[in-house]
Amino acid sequence: TTHRVRIQGSDTPLDVAADQSVLDAVLRAGEWLPHSCTQGTCGTCKLRVLDGEVAHNDSPDYTLTPAERCAGLALGCMATPCSDLVVEPLGAAVDDGAPRHPLRDHDGTVVVLDDIATDTRRLVVELDEPMTFNAGQYAELVIPGTGVGRQYSMANPPSESKLLEFHVKRTVGGRATEGWIFGSLTVGERVELRGPLGQFHLVREQAEPAILIGGGTGLAPLKSIARHVLDHGLVPELYLYHGGRRRDDLYDVEFFRELEAGYDNFHYRPVLSEEQWDGATGMVTDVVVEDFRSCKGLSAYLCGPPAMIEAGVRALKRRRMAPRLIFREEFTVAV
Ligand code: FES
Repeated sequence: TTHRVRIQGSDTPLDVAADQSVLDAVLRAGEWLPHSCTQGTCGTCKLRVLDGEVAHNDSPDYTLTPAERCAGLALGCMATPCSDLVVEPLGAAVDDGAPRHPLRDHDGTVVVLDDIATDTRRLVVELDEPMTFNAGQYAELVIPGTGVGRQYSMANPPSESKLLEFHVKRTVGGRATEGWIFGSLTVGERVELRGPLGQFHLVREQAEPAILIGGGTGLAPLKSIARHVLDHGLVPELYLYHGGRRRDDLYDVEFFRELEAGYDNFHYRPVLSEEQWDGATGMVTDVVVEDFRSCKGLSAYLCGPPAMIEAGVRALKRRRMAPRLIFREEFTVAV
């Protein structure tokens, strides 16, 4: 069965299958709804169902409360249609002029699978067809035989649209990591993925410097952003901070040092929290605060574990960065 969904304010109704989320249908049609995690955990995709009925499926109560359900709200990434629908996104759709790339299914071949840091692998997939995306977005790798997706940000710039690079951290007991990417997966194997997803990106020219702050494999979308931004000269100065506990947690250090040597306006600062070395030590967000007396007018892009992001946002606000200029992508750890 197929139903029709129309976004309030748009004239074009879109097809949505009975087992397809509203968000999935909208993104595949090349239209847009605000979203971030696509897992029911962030609430960014909350919408009001103005007409028709949806099934909420596994929408968690902490994201969509029973009272909100009664009031006709739904999570676009979880809700499937029970009838034709008219919906209205709750959050104002931020239109910053970034291009919108339709969500697609892709097939590709694993061409690189390397250990690059403690419990961290670089996975490069050569796609059969290019995927257009904004620097900072992510894709879902499908665990073979399950249909279940796991989310990894592209670390390559959008100009390399057929060669996607991912940084994968092992999760203890993780189906996708221990069971597959750190287990049976080999170079040459065929993989399925879908993308692009997410609204974490830096693709527009801006007059003020930008600070990128990553923890662990949170470096991935920042690497894509850094390469894209430097290639296109989008910001006057670009600062990249990468935090790890020990030297063995860092990776691509040489890559970024070379990038730094090639661009006067790029500054790379790796930070270790549990080991003394000749570089910066401490919590990565504390080092940022020491380096910048004022962050007024600057923007920041943070990706990493929730605790790092919280600390980073607090620190940047203390340094007078405007909340609307702080962009974040949190890890969602799925087992
Ligand atoms: Fe739907 Fe996060 S809850 S995108």
